[in-house]
Amino acid sequence: MTTEIAAKAGATEMPSALHQVLAGQQPHRRPIWLMRQAGRYLPEYRAIRAEAGAFLDLCYNPALAAAVTLQPIRRYGFDAAIIFSDILVVPHALGQAVRFEEGEGPRLDPVTDVAGLARLDRSRAGERFEQVNKALRLVKAQLPPGTALIGFCGAPWTVATYMVGGQGSSDQAAARLWAYADPDGFQQLIDLLVQTSITYLCGQVNAGADVLQIFDSWAGSLASDEFHSWVLEPTVRIVAGVKARHPDVPIIGFPRGGAVHALNYIKATGIAGYGCDTAMPITLMRSLIAQMGIAVQGHLDPLLLQVGGARMAERVEELLESFDPARHIFNLGHGIVPQTPPEHVAQLVELVRKG
Ligand code: CP3
Repeated sequence: MTTEIAAKAGATEMPSALHQVLAGQQPHRRPIWLMRQAGRYLPEYRAIRAEAGAFLDLCYNPALAAAVTLQPIRRYGFDAAIIFSDILVVPHALGQAVRFEEGEGPRLDPVTDVAGLARLDRSRAGERFEQVNKALRLVKAQLPPGTALIGFCGAPWTVATYMVGGQGSSDQAAARLWAYADPDGFQQLIDLLVQTSITYLCGQVNAGADVLQIFDSWAGSLASDEFHSWVLEPTVRIVAGVKARHPDVPIIGFPRGGAVHALNYIKATGIAGYGCDTAMPITLMRSLIAQMGIAVQGHLDPLLLQVGGARMAERVEELLESFDPARHIFNLGHGIVPQTPPEHVAQLVELVRKG
């Protein structure tokens, strides 16, 4: 067997620490990866980003998207790579105009009613998703043994907030207004996103993703009944739809701001891992493990990572002491901010590795 083939065989045989924890096993080390681990805080990312031009062009360029995905793996040796893409690739693939304005975040031509939904030209969805799948295949072939490959999508509610509002907002008012005024119409948007997300995630698994994460960044903005209709139910359907075809691929749910609904969300969806935001108390994370047997991920404040040093080290120690490594995936409570010094990430990885 040549060295290259042996390395590939090793890659399929050696379970990642992330898989071990998601399966409830004692991992060979506590897994760590960080949301937005590939991004603007890395000089090597900024170099490729400048070469690619617009952000979406980078997402749809398989060679460059793969290179960017691998950058933080090479630099820090994380236990998982997350495919470089964006949750707004889904509305774009469904025919909505999506732009990323420099320094301003995403801008979409809003879809605010059923007529707007019907006007979307969905005919290019397959070819756009295929670009992401090509990037996954390239990453998979180059990933070090024992490193998981995470595919993802935005949850329907969060994606809908951008589709309806046309941009990010602090209160998600546009989507909430449509959902209250015309729940049947809004349900059509959610149904479209559920079906599309199942197709998209299954495509990513076929291309090599071996763990999936569903990002629901704005899950915290809804009242209980609406949380049930627009966050919980759609996620239940996505998890069931993916599991019907890929029962062995673990799924991590990240309903940010949804701590009060955590037990129901975990019970109803049957996810293998629960992503915790910074506001979630450590005691609640521990009781989720005890009561639900679930693996928890996250919590460290991205701004504490930006500060680094002794302040960060104290909190990291507290987290390491609070959780059995068999039930904890080290991560942040939200994505890395661009102002983060890369050496602080190195400090964090070293602290977690020392355990
Ligand atoms: O985690 C990773 O490293 C994988 C790649 C990834 C990106 N976005 C790359 C990105 C993932 C998983 C996302 C998810 C995402 N995108 C979410 C859910 C998680 C969260 O942060 O709440 C959301 C809400 C989006 C939508 C989005 N994309 C916004 C609001 C923005 C602008 C904000 C910003 O930081 O500029 C983006 C742009 C974006 N997505 C960037 C990156 C690296 C920065 C764009 C650039 O390079 O210019």
